[in-house]
This record gives sequence, C-alpha cells and structure tokens, in this order.
Amino acid sequence: MGTPPVTSIRAIEAVDRPWLDTLLREHWGGEPMIVRGVEHRALELPALIAGDREGVAVYEPGAEHRVPELLLLHALRQGGGIGTALIAALVDVLRRAGHDRLLVTTSNDNLAALRFYQRRGFRLHAIRCGAVDELRARKPTIPLVGFNDIQLHDEIDLLLTF
Ligand SMILES: CC(C)(COP(=O)(O)OP(=O)(O)OC[C@H]1O[C@@H](n2cnc3c(N)ncnc32)[C@H](O)[C@@H]1OP(=O)(O)O)[C@@H](O)C(=O)NCCC(=O)NCCS
Repeated sequence: MGTPPVTSIRAIEAVDRPWLDTLLREHWGGEPMIVRGVEHRALELPALIAGDREGVAVYEPGAEHRVPELLLLHALRQGGGIGTALIAALVDVLRRAGHDRLLVTTSNDNLAALRFYQRRGFRLHAIRCGAVDELRARKPTIPLVGFNDIQLHDEIDLLLTF
C-alpha cells in the first residue's frame, strides 16, 4: 500500500483557523510570522488547505502590484505530494488573479525546502546574510539551530515565474 493521494485542495474557512493557530505555535513559533523583515498575521491571510487538513499554504495575495508571497507551506504527511499539490493550486489561483510570479523565503538550514522549491521551478532570487539572526532579536522563539542540525542565520528568497 502506498501513501494515499491528495484528495482535494480548498480555501481555508473560519473553522480551520484554530487548527492553523496550533500548527503555527507548534512548528513556527506562533504569530506574527516575520518574513523579509515584515510582520504578517497568518491567521488573517488567505490560505489553501490540502485534504483533511493534511497541509496548508498561507500566502499574501500580492495587492498593489506586489509580487504574491508564499509565507508558509507545511505538509503534515511529507513526501506524499501534498506540497506539490498546494503549489500547483496556488499558482492556479494567482494566475486567475492576473499574477505571473510567486516569491517564497526559506532559511539557510532548510535543505529539503531548497531542493523542493528548485525542483518545482523556483529560482534563487536573493540571499540576506544574518537576516534570521536579526529576526531572532524580535522573535526569540526562533531557534539557534534549525533543520539538519545547521545553525540558523540567513534568509534565502526563491522566485517562481509562471
Ligand atoms: C517542504 C515540504 C512543504 C514539501 O512538501 P511535501 O508534501 O513533503 O512534498 P511532496 O510530497 O509534494 O514532494 C516531495 C518532494 O520533496 C522532497 N522532500 C522534502 N522534504 C521531504 C521530507 N521530509 N520527506 C520526504 N520528501 C521530502 C522529496 O525529496 C520530493 O522531491 P522530488 O519529488 O522533487 O524528488 C514539506 O516537506 C514540509 O512541510 N516541510 C516542513 C515545513 C517546511 O520546511 N516548509 C517550507 C518552509 S519555506
């Protein structure tokens, strides 16, 4: 038996917000999310949910000619196609809204995400050395050591053009 396929992707509803709040607290240090120095309230932003809350993509929709930004991509069952399906659905939503780019920021320790995004067409866009160290001063819940036992220091932006 393989892993079950992703059944559906849908827009987040009010009833999902407590679940997202818990996920943010348990995995991402809670609100606010600070990306590229900007504070975001993920619980107030649009998001896509995969299957029976198997994954989530929270995004800034790119108002006022800004490039839309993927702020959080999280699959609870990894390697099962959830992340890929969420990216595809988000691109579809953004394309319909007239956008042709999607920005995402990850950190220097997240080798799986760097691989994942590049395999899905994202290109390296910018590196901000020490940006996570600066963030930690504002948000002490950010750990000193991240994924893969790598010290957490820098932000890396990747851009998808579609
Ligand atoms: C990165 C992430 C969103 C990918 O979602 P996913 O549903 O596991 O990815 P998919 O199943 O669609 O695709 C699997 C691909 O990701 C890779 N991958 C990344 N992390 C993986 C993991 N922990 N387990 C298995 N595969 C993983 C696989 O190698 C595979 O690559 P390939 O198809 O290009 O060969 C997911 O691993 C995750 O939630 N990670 C933790 C949170 C995170 O780091 N989010 C990104 C922050 S910017």
